Amino acid sequence: MCGIVGYVGTTSGTTALDVVMEGLARLEYRGYDSAGVALVAEGQVAAQKRAGKLVNLRQALVDAPLPASRTAIGHTRWATHGGPTDQNAHPHRGGDDGKLALIHNGIIENFHSLKTQLLADGVGFASETDTEVAAQLLAQAYAGDLTEAMRTVVNRLEGAFTLLAVHADNPGVVVGARRNSPLVVGRGEHENFLGSDVAAFIGHTRQAIELGQDQIVTITPESIDIIGFDGAPAQGKPYEVTWDAAAAEKGGHRSFMAKEIAEQPHAVADTLLGRTDESGRLVLDELRIAEEDLRRVSKITIIACGTAAYAGMVAKYAIEHWTRIPCEVELAHEFRYRDPVIDSTSLVVSISQSGETMDTLMAVKHANDLGAHTLSICNTHGSTIPRESDAVLYTHAGPEIAVASTKAFLAQITASYILGLYLAQLRGTLSEEEIAEITHELGEVPHKLSHLLDSMDRVREIARFMADSRSVLFLGRHVGFPVALEGALKLKEIAYIHAEGFAAGELKHGPIALIEPGQPVFIVVPSPSTAHGLHGKVVSNIQEIRARGARTLVIAEEGDDDVVPFADEIIRVPATPTLLAPLLTVVPLQVFACELATARGLDVDQPRNLAKSVTVE
Ligand code: AGP
Repeated sequence: MCGIVGYVGTTSGTTALDVVMEGLARLEYRGYDSAGVALVAEGQVAAQKRAGKLVNLRQALVDAPLPASRTAIGHTRWATHGGPTDQNAHPHRGGDDGKLALIHNGIIENFHSLKTQLLADGVGFASETDTEVAAQLLAQAYAGDLTEAMRTVVNRLEGAFTLLAVHADNPGVVVGARRNSPLVVGRGEHENFLGSDVAAFIGHTRQAIELGQDQIVTITPESIDIIGFDGAPAQGKPYEVTWDAAAAEKGGHRSFMAKEIAEQPHAVADTLLGRTDESGRLVLDELRIAEEDLRRVSKITIIACGTAAYAGMVAKYAIEHWTRIPCEVELAHEFRYRDPVIDSTSLVVSISQSGETMDTLMAVKHANDLGAHTLSICNTHGSTIPRESDAVLYTHAGPEIAVASTKAFLAQITASYILGLYLAQLRGTLSEEEIAEITHELGEVPHKLSHLLDSMDRVREIARFMADSRSVLFLGRHVGFPVALEGALKLKEIAYIHAEGFAAGELKHGPIALIEPGQPVFIVVPSPSTAHGLHGKVVSNIQEIRARGARTLVIAEEGDDDVVPFADEIIRVPATPTLLAPLLTVVPLQVFACELATARGLDVDQPRNLAKSVTVE
């Protein structure tokens, strides 16, 4: 989720650099850990980049000013391949003549094989990034036409990318390309803009053109030319930006939480990117724990807090079923104090969006002291918990701004599934065909999420109707139980409503006493195809509470008619294998909480008493 800005204009002086720096400042909300700019001037490409926040880059530009220019690109980086350092910051140079610079948002899946070919050609690299590989390819392909060189390169790349490039021999030209990653054009008067979203140039123009999949755009101060990766002329989608600057940061959504809920298809897809090969086998080169150590693992302990802990609870069902390794989930702040049975055959997996949660960090340190192998599932490159762990499996949800975690939750579950499948593959507890089938189903989830997100109007209507609720209960069974807990947490933390999640089987052991006429209860119903008759058991639970007057809000698979007689509301989710269902069934609960809190006029993104990262015990 890097920030990208491009500019070409006719007025010389510092305009180009000013415009790009202003655009990067407007994109800061996206979260980043380094920044850089490049501009075309005096027959060269001049550039500056720094780890850390924009203030570091600004200081570097004061210490060593760049020449006046009409053509510039700028980038804020959210680290994926390679930590947040000056060398890994963008732009990256291509070739030895210093005449080309490239910036990139996304993940180039096949960069390893491309880099191997370049190294064999004697190309040297200054960074660990996939972006520098693209820059070197572009330099190799350049023969005077930057657009054609870009077209050659993008047809060799796999994955998700937005690329911008400038070349010293093409002053007044910026070339951009996109696949599975956004790029918009801003149309000005004798000047044109490019951005990862309209916030990059909304201070200058509201005339935008959204580029389509696999398109290349070449901008000059007087022209905007779009072609497909096949070279054929293409059209973008022109529109006028009606949002103000603040709304533009949220992509037109009313809150970052709403935006991040909408980004979940990408969060899952990007977390899967590059981790399976074409046959569906898991490929985890980044995992730094020896295969023989992973084969010897006798127990897995997942440690986390809050939503991350619920992601671990979901993962437990899949990991145990696929690997046949006992798997327990422990709240990190409890783990340290219960004298856990941990040794060198233990794998302790921490899950953390921020990578800075003190409770989780201290638990990881404790696990290290006890001799465990420690693995971090984390969304923030270079944060403390991955540094304290033996290995890390990064989620690629992009920066999560809202305190209430949503897209990171889905990415955490996805990464946990990837880990479980990798262990099953290593230990042979699943066949290649079974693994390929599950990775195929995982690959279908982003599309199903997009479909589900387009059908949330009724959920929002229910939320607005229930804005004055004082208590909401959530029931689930099997993998639906942690989903119920997460749904309750979302409502608690942003709408300040008493909400409680239960294992549906627990009803008769106490919670059913809470049921009184009109009590709203969400029930997460497993697929009718779920083993052990769990579906029928949950339908019986719905009958029990409905008979006592509960208002039943049922989340059920498309086509499940058994729930109809007992549901006051039915919220349909696409069919998917039981163990993967939480990636879908949690979404209506996220949307419900977000809409209800919004209807109550609350600060959805920064709820009272809470911080995005709890860095104290
Ligand atoms: C979830 O919506 C909350 N923001 C909170 O429970 C959070 O998941 C928890 O504090 C863990 O944070 P982490 O993932 O950054 O470690």
